[in-house]
Amino acid sequence: MTTKILVVDDDRATRQWLCSVLDAEGYVCHAARNPKEAEDVLHHTEVQLALVDIYLGDANGVEFLQRIRGIQPDCDCVMMTAHASVETMAQSVKDGAIEYLGKPLHIDDLLGLVRRLEKRRQSRPHGQAVAGDPEPEGFAGTAIIGRSPKMLEVYRSIARVAPTDATVLIVGPSGSGKERVARAIHAHSKRARMPMTAINCGALAESVLESELFGHEKGAFTGADRPRRGLFESSNGGTIFLDEISETTPGFQVKLLRVLQERQIRRLGSNTYLPVDVRILAATNADIGERIRAKQFREDLYYRLSVMTIHLPALEERQEDIPLLVRHFLSGFNERNARRVTLNEEATGLLMRMSWPGNVRELENLIERAAILSTTGEISAEDVERASGAGALSSAKAEETATTLKGVERQQIVRALREAQGNRSLTARKLGIERKTLYKKARRLEIDLDAPEK
Ligand SMILES: Nc1ncnc2c1ncn2[C@@H]1O[C@H](COP(=O)(O)OP(=O)(O)OP(=O)(O)O)[C@@H](O)[C@H]1O
Ligand SMILES: [Mg+2]
Repeated sequence: MTTKILVVDDDRATRQWLCSVLDAEGYVCHAARNPKEAEDVLHHTEVQLALVDIYLGDANGVEFLQRIRGIQPDCDCVMMTAHASVETMAQSVKDGAIEYLGKPLHIDDLLGLVRRLEKRRQSRPHGQAVAGDPEPEGFAGTAIIGRSPKMLEVYRSIARVAPTDATVLIVGPSGSGKERVARAIHAHSKRARMPMTAINCGALAESVLESELFGHEKGAFTGADRPRRGLFESSNGGTIFLDEISETTPGFQVKLLRVLQERQIRRLGSNTYLPVDVRILAATNADIGERIRAKQFREDLYYRLSVMTIHLPALEERQEDIPLLVRHFLSGFNERNARRVTLNEEATGLLMRMSWPGNVRELENLIERAAILSTTGEISAEDVERASGAGALSSAKAEETATTLKGVERQQIVRALREAQGNRSLTARKLGIERKTLYKKARRLEIDLDAPEK
C-alpha cells in the first residue's frame, strides 16, 4: 500500500516543496493550509503520516496534534519547526509527536525520517484504507494558463532558461503572473528539490533587507545580539526570488552586484566572504530604463540581472486568454466550494472588453466575487458588473467617459499626495492601492510625484 502523507503548513512554498519531494519518491501527498483543511482530509482519507508545522498562523500545531490523534490514532506525527526550543520539543513528545524535523528542511533529513517511520509501521498492524480520497493539491495551483502567442513566447523562454543557472529578470505589470513564472522556472530547474525563497524588496527597509539576505554577526548593529544566517546562506543550492527589485537602494544594489559577480556573500559586520550557490530570479513592474536614467538603478546591475529577460504581457494584450483563465478560476472555485457555477457568453464577452489594470489577479478576484454573488449558478453580465462594483458595463461600452474618469482619478491622486505631503506610501494607503500601483498610475496620468500640482 502506498504511504499517504498529510502536509500541514500555512506556507505555500513549503507545502509545494514537500509535496514535490514526496511525490517524486512515490508517496501520495495531501496538502492542507490549516487545521480545518487538514481535518477535512483526515475525515476522508486514512493517512499514515502527518507533517505538521508547529506555527500554523493563529492555530497552534501542538494542540492540533491531539486532534489528529483523535481522528486517526494510528497516524504518525512529525513536527516541523524553525525554532526547536526545548520546551516545545518536550511538549510535542508528550502530546505524541514522535518525531521532529527542523526548518529549513533538508531533503535527506526528510526522506530519511519518512523511510524510518515507514519501516517502523510495517512491523505494526494497520487499518483499512477509506475510499473517496480528495485530490492531492499537487501543482494545480501553479499552472500557467494561456495559449495566446505572447504566452507561448513566455513558455518558450521558461523552457529555455529553466535548466540553466542564468539569472532571469521577469518584467510585467502588476498581477500579470511574474511570481508564477519565477516558480515555474524554479520547478523546472535542477534546483527544484530545494526551496525557492521569495522576498519582496519593495516592502523592506534597506537595513532589514540586507540583514535578511546576508545575515549578520553578533554586534553588527544595535539589537544584533546573536549571529544570524541570511537567506543567501540558508537557500544554498536553491533559488531566491527578488521581487520588486526596482525598489532597492543603490547601496543594496552594489552588494547584490557583488553576489552576482563573485558568488560570495559577507554577513553584516563580518570580514569573511562565504561562497554561496544560489540562483537569482528577479522581478519588477517598473520601467527600469527610466530608473537607470534617473540614476536610481545601477546600469551594471541591470545588465547582470537581465542576462535573460522574460516579458509578461498585460492581460489586455492577450484577451483571447480570458475565457481560459475564467474557466480555470471558476473550476478552482467550484472545487473548493463544491459548487457548479458557470458563466454565460454575454459575461465572457464583457470580461474580454473590460480594462484590467490589475491584470490576472484582478480577473481572478472578480471571478471569485461574481461566483459568490451569483444566486442562479450562472454568472451573467450584470453579475460581472455588480462584482466589479465600478460600473464595468458603462466603462467598457462608453469610451467617451474615459477622459473624464481619467481626470477624476488624477484629481484624487493629486489630492491624496497633497494630504500626505508627498509621502508615497501614505498616499497609496489613503487611496487603498499598492505603492507600485500608485507609481504606475502616476506615470499613466502624467503626474510628477515630486511636484504633483504641476
Ligand atoms: N497565467 C496565469 N494562469 C493562472 N493564474 C495566473 C496566471 N498569471 C497570474 N495568475 C494568478 O494571478 C495572481 C497574480 O499573479 P502573480 O502573483 O504571479 O503576479 P505578479 O506579476 O507577481 O504580481 P505583482 O506585480 O502584483 O507582484 C496569482 O493569484 C496567480 O496565481
Ligand atoms: Mg509578485
